Amino acid sequence: MRVNNHPEDDAPPIVVEGLVNRFGDFTVHEGLDLTVRRGEILGVVGGSGSGKSVLMRSIIGLQRPTAGRIDVLGRTITEVDLDQGIGVRRRWGVLFQGGALFSTLTVGENVEVPLKKFYPELDPKLRREIARYKVILTGLADSAVAKYPSELSGGMKKRAGLARALALDPELLFLDEPTAGLDPIGAAKFDRLTRELKETLGLTVFLITHDLDTLYEICDRVAVIADKKIIAVGTIPELIATKHPWIESYFNGPRGRAAHASHDRNQIGGDQAAWQTEVDG
Ligand SMILES: Nc1ncnc2c1ncn2[C@@H]1O[C@H](COP(=O)(O)OP(=O)(O)OP(=O)(O)O)[C@@H](O)[C@H]1O
Ligand SMILES: [Mg+2]
Repeated sequence: MRVNNHPEDDAPPIVVEGLVNRFGDFTVHEGLDLTVRRGEILGVVGGSGSGKSVLMRSIIGLQRPTAGRIDVLGRTITEVDLDQGIGVRRRWGVLFQGGALFSTLTVGENVEVPLKKFYPELDPKLRREIARYKVILTGLADSAVAKYPSELSGGMKKRAGLARALALDPELLFLDEPTAGLDPIGAAKFDRLTRELKETLGLTVFLITHDLDTLYEICDRVAVIADKKIIAVGTIPELIATKHPWIESYFNGPRGRAAHASHDRNQIGGDQAAWQTEVDG
């Protein structure tokens, strides 16, 4: 577990209040509120184009909101200029939708990018060694370190992206659609890896997903974006009890019911699944 070096650590790691995001006349968020609790995996769901990625980009300071306040790890992100090299940026890691590895760099070099940027004084040999360790931490083989993204499967790319997100030993991990494009077995393995890393490294995870299995298997709570706001946050049974039409059709539709049934089966057969190793994508 992490040593508590930061006095603000008792506060929730992410607090969003009254967020407004507009692009011209088009309003994505209108008075959105959300609190993420320390140590949880918060799933974020909503229809395509509902503003999940824009919310994440606002929280990490890549998207300056039209109005509202966002506090991350005790700093008011909406008031600071993130280009000014403030320490808070070192304290989160991000896996963007689509992975976004640098194609001309090897996996190891990709993981070294944030280390170079935030710790330029680091000895290159040590930096390489840290990068290698992060790659192995995500379940990739040692040999993957020297490979280029084009030589990797979809699942391996996701792991490499995760290794880069973990490069700076973050407290907060942002994952945008991490299992999109993976086959169900690869997706389940990635889910398990996320949960294990969260528990071992003491992370708080903001996880955008369409994957109902991910929501059932690893999320502590789920936040639903609709009508430009977070309309509900809670465990899946709590959400279903709200009787909101979008939530009901999402979780009680055929895919939702299948994910629920599979979750119940896994609860019974969980020990049998535990032997499965985490080698490939
Ligand atoms: N930089 C931008 N300029 C103009 N419009 C934008 C910009 N970024 C996002 N949008 C619009 O904001 C809306 C929300 O986009 P966002 O990417 O957050 O959706 P999303 O919920 O992540 O969807 P998906 O599930 O498809 O990834 C979309 O209509 C999108 O076209
Ligand atoms: Mg998105």
